[in-house]
Amino acid sequence: MAAIEMKNIVKQYGDGFPAVNDVSIDVADGEFLILVGPSGCGKSTLLRMIVGLEDITSGDMVIGGKKVNDLAPRDRNLAMVFQNYALYPHLSVYENIAFPLRLAGASDSEVDQKVREASKTLELDEHLERKPGNLSGGQRQRVAMGRAIVRDAEAFLFDEPLSNLDAKLRGQMRTEISRLQKKLGITTVYVTHDQTEAMTLGDRVAVLKRGVLQQLATPRELYENPCNLFVAGFIGSPPMNFLPATVKGDSVELPFGTVKIPAEKAERAQGKGLLIAGIRPDHFEDASVVDNPADEATFDTTVDVVEWLGNEAYAYIPFEAPPEVTKQLQQLERDLDGESLRTQLVVSLDGASQIKEGDQAKIWVDARKIHLFDPATGENLTMDPDKAGTVPGDNAMAKAEQAGEKQDAVQPAGAAGDAKTTQ
Ligand SMILES: Nc1ncnc2c1ncn2[C@@H]1O[C@H](COP(=O)(O)OP(=O)(O)OP(=O)(O)O)[C@@H](O)[C@H]1O
Ligand SMILES: [Mg+2]
Repeated sequence: MAAIEMKNIVKQYGDGFPAVNDVSIDVADGEFLILVGPSGCGKSTLLRMIVGLEDITSGDMVIGGKKVNDLAPRDRNLAMVFQNYALYPHLSVYENIAFPLRLAGASDSEVDQKVREASKTLELDEHLERKPGNLSGGQRQRVAMGRAIVRDAEAFLFDEPLSNLDAKLRGQMRTEISRLQKKLGITTVYVTHDQTEAMTLGDRVAVLKRGVLQQLATPRELYENPCNLFVAGFIGSPPMNFLPATVKGDSVELPFGTVKIPAEKAERAQGKGLLIAGIRPDHFEDASVVDNPADEATFDTTVDVVEWLGNEAYAYIPFEAPPEVTKQLQQLERDLDGESLRTQLVVSLDGASQIKEGDQAKIWVDARKIHLFDPATGENLTMDPDKAGTVPGDNAMAKAEQAGEKQDAVQPAGAAGDAKTTQ
């Protein structure tokens, strides 16, 4: 097992496109790190550079204290589990797991001991004589992991290993991988574009956008203190609501009314004109089920649609947004890969709420949890830097946005044009 350090990693493909742009991530020994972001943000490229399947344009890749930039994949002793975990159809499960050991010329007794140990951990004992074709997706996944385990690899690398599975099995396998990783205590880097997987599996999560690291933090830090609109919109389901907002004194004016926010938040957003407020669906509540809702944190509104799920209900409340805000939200929608951020508020209500479609309702908002974003840069003005993990550079997002606009979004970090040459 080993720690993995990525230092200012850049990958430019032949056409000069910076698929990974100055990314620095440290993965501690035994840590479960997630690389997450929309399609094309550079996750697979970064993972392939860790394994050695892709050259590094500039920067250092350090595994177990040793720089590996020029080492061939086989000399890095890492185990990669691909999206299509290639199992040999004509070999039994036993021989599939044993494969890397046979290649390395291990003795029969060593092979047997290691395969049986892995199979026990993976609960594959009863399937050892079967062929992969007769196994379920989840079982095949475990065989692929078994093959990685017997190699005593320094780290596990996964590239969207669950994307072929149906939703139920995906959930089961997620739990399984998490359990196994804890049990084996092996350093793991896991690529996904699914924020639920990222949140549930990772010790820490690295959020990437167009090759640029946005924020590296624990799931809780990302959820509670996103550094910018992109991270805020990407993490959380249903997604965070974004509303036009203006701060006056200790209060913020929202389309539905004015609510009082904590003084330090108000101070940091003072005099900035029109802002975007970010409020998660679960930070609203039906005022009638809240004990002593403060008047300055409630507003009256008409509820358009209610979806009651038993334990909770989602209420939808349409609102108007000025063009400055709509423009930024449309851009965000594109960045997030088409996740729809319509101008309607999604509010999660307690299952006990009696609010119905078309009702005039009093809604309470947890004003302590409101974030305020600069619409020009996307920066979260109210982020608590002590609880936000690592946010690279100052305002990496702002720079990315500006560079993106100028250069038609081809070189997001704006830094790739100078000095960082290929090979
Ligand atoms: N061999 C290549 N030559 C040129 N450009 C490439 C090559 N491989 C990837 N890219 C580009 O690099 C960027 C990052 O690709 P990558 O495969 O790392 O994305 P990803 O985050 O894994 O996306 P997905 O979620 O779709 O798998 C993309 O814009 C892609 O077009
Ligand atoms: Mg990929």
